[in-house]
Amino acid sequence: MIDKPKEERVEEIKLLQERIKELEKLYAGLKEEHRHTKRFETVVRDSNDSIIIQDIDGRITAWNRGAQLMYGYTESEALGMGIEHLTPKGKVPEHKELGRRLIAGEAVPSFETQRITKDGRILDVWLTVTKVIEKPSDSVISTGRDLTNLVGIALIERNISERKMAEMQYKTVTQSSADGFWQTDTQANIVDVNDACCRILKYSREELLKMKVSDIEDKENPQDIKNHIHKVKTSGSDRFETRHKRKDGIIIDVEVCLTYLEGFDRMFVFTRDISERKQIENTLRESEAFLSTIIENIPDMVFVKKAKDLTFVKFNKAGEELLGFSRESMIGKSDRDFFSKDQADFFIAEDRSVFKGKRVREIPAEKIQTKDKGERILHTKKIPLLDDQGKPAYLLGISEDITERKQAEAQIIQSEKMAGIGRLAASMTHELRNPLMYITANISLMEQYFQRIAGEVVELEKITQIVPPESQEKLAVLKDSFLKTYKEIEQSVKDSREGCARINDIVGGLLDYARIGSDLTEPVDLSVVIEKALELVGSDIRYKCKVEKDFQKVPMVSGNQRELEQVFVNLFVNASQAIKKDGLLKVKSYLDGREAVVEVSDNGAGIAPENLNKIFEPFFTTKKEGEGAGLGLAIVHKIIERHGGSISVASEVDKGATFIIRLPVKPNYT
Ligand SMILES: Nc1ncnc2c1ncn2[C@@H]1O[C@H](COP(=O)(O)OP(=O)(O)O)[C@@H](O)[C@H]1O
Ligand SMILES: [Mg+2]
Repeated sequence: MIDKPKEERVEEIKLLQERIKELEKLYAGLKEEHRHTKRFETVVRDSNDSIIIQDIDGRITAWNRGAQLMYGYTESEALGMGIEHLTPKGKVPEHKELGRRLIAGEAVPSFETQRITKDGRILDVWLTVTKVIEKPSDSVISTGRDLTNLVGIALIERNISERKMAEMQYKTVTQSSADGFWQTDTQANIVDVNDACCRILKYSREELLKMKVSDIEDKENPQDIKNHIHKVKTSGSDRFETRHKRKDGIIIDVEVCLTYLEGFDRMFVFTRDISERKQIENTLRESEAFLSTIIENIPDMVFVKKAKDLTFVKFNKAGEELLGFSRESMIGKSDRDFFSKDQADFFIAEDRSVFKGKRVREIPAEKIQTKDKGERILHTKKIPLLDDQGKPAYLLGISEDITERKQAEAQIIQSEKMAGIGRLAASMTHELRNPLMYITANISLMEQYFQRIAGEVVELEKITQIVPPESQEKLAVLKDSFLKTYKEIEQSVKDSREGCARINDIVGGLLDYARIGSDLTEPVDLSVVIEKALELVGSDIRYKCKVEKDFQKVPMVSGNQRELEQVFVNLFVNASQAIKKDGLLKVKSYLDGREAVVEVSDNGAGIAPENLNKIFEPFFTTKKEGEGAGLGLAIVHKIIERHGGSISVASEVDKGATFIIRLPVKPNYT
């Protein structure tokens, strides 16, 4: 080296220096490459995906942390182990085929397969395979195609079991649902549907996957749908009813349940065909309306009470009119809120007994106090309405207002009674008249005989003066006893005469009563009739009281003058009998519409309230025996009735009484 010329050595040194530089550069490059490789190594080692390298004989030569986590084998357990330990039996041929294809140089795309763990669990994995090629000096994972240096296969596996499970759950849920299901994106494009959805809408899956929600929605327009989706994107979900159009054009009612999946920006939609339900609802509503109209228009009161607390739940128009309470004020309330305690107790007891007997209960007549119509009489039916278990749920009540019918019945009974008495009076009086006549005649005869005996006694007295004194004494005793008997008999005869007179009065009254109803055709001037009656009563009245008359011009009435006189005579007699002293009798007449009205009032004893509706009955009297037979007002009533008129009375005890008589005036009478 020393012999070499200087230039040459310099040249050599230069070359050496360049070589050093080159080597330094190479070294720096290698260092850089090493750093890279190291980085990759950590990534591979710590990856959550399992990365395994197997050699060509199927023996594991590399095992990362992900593989350990996935399969449960430690690195030392795994290294040298056959790859078939990770492969379920069924998948072994597939794996062998994979190796064959790789060695043959074919490209194998990633695919889904199954693996088995150390503890025997089957995993779904997503597998990517690459060849491992080794250069003589180093070993790197490479995708190069050089077959000569192939030393193994790298398997990169991702556990997708959970995703698979979720997918399977989604499929099972959506497919097994009887409701239609579809999934849309936020632009309302349909991206998935289930079979039920196809069935409901009559479209095929393929057809639906090309459609938008607006193609099947009938109620909402595309803008509405957009707004709706926007709303659900903020609220998360919604449930509503709408209408869908089927492929055959038929519109169906559906209930929709919409859920927004935020992470996926998808809408999950379950739809239920509720056409049938809607139809049933409509039919129900219609039949309910139909029934309500009937109940509403029934002329009887109809009500329904809850069994639990007997509060009203239904109440019809007739009920409102009858009780005078609006249904708004009744619903939710009970009898206690409207009726007196006694009455409410009665109704509630009735209701309870209906529930107890579980049978229809009929109440032929019950009294009820109404708000505006006073006391009414109802004929009520109460019907228990039972639930599925046969327990009382409601009480249905139907009440007919029979007040008028009851009053009419009472009137008929009353007039039947009167007519009966009339007939009885007519036949009886005829029978009584004859015996009464001869009893009266015989009494008169007896009185004449008594007068004759009285004369004969005077004669006898004269004779006694001439008999011997001892006989005189005897005669005097006899005479005393005779006179005593005579007086007694005389008194009896007198009493009998009075009794006969009374019987005569009664018989006469009965005859009057029976005879009422003769010709009624003459025109009668009431003021004339009243004057005549006052005259007939005469001194009786004038002696006891002042008479005040106030007659207005009243047209004539059609009737029987004698009978109408009798009416006022009877009224005046009663008035004078009711008056003790300082009496005032007022008689007033005026025209009211087509009726002539006469008011007769007195300031006498008055009539007790409990007697007010009895005084017109035959034989009702409050008077002492001998003062009245109780026929006066019966006769008045019958006469007025026969004249087509009416009589009423108003009275206060100790203040007096006023009788008001109304008689129709004939249009052609003035
Ligand atoms: N003006 C009156 N004031 C008070 N009470 C009366 C009056 N008019 C009738 N009455 C009552 O009506 C009853 C029946 O009357 P009436 O039929 O005339 O029979 P009588 O006079 O024979 O008792 C009477 O007993 C009396 O109690
Ligand atoms: Mg009388």
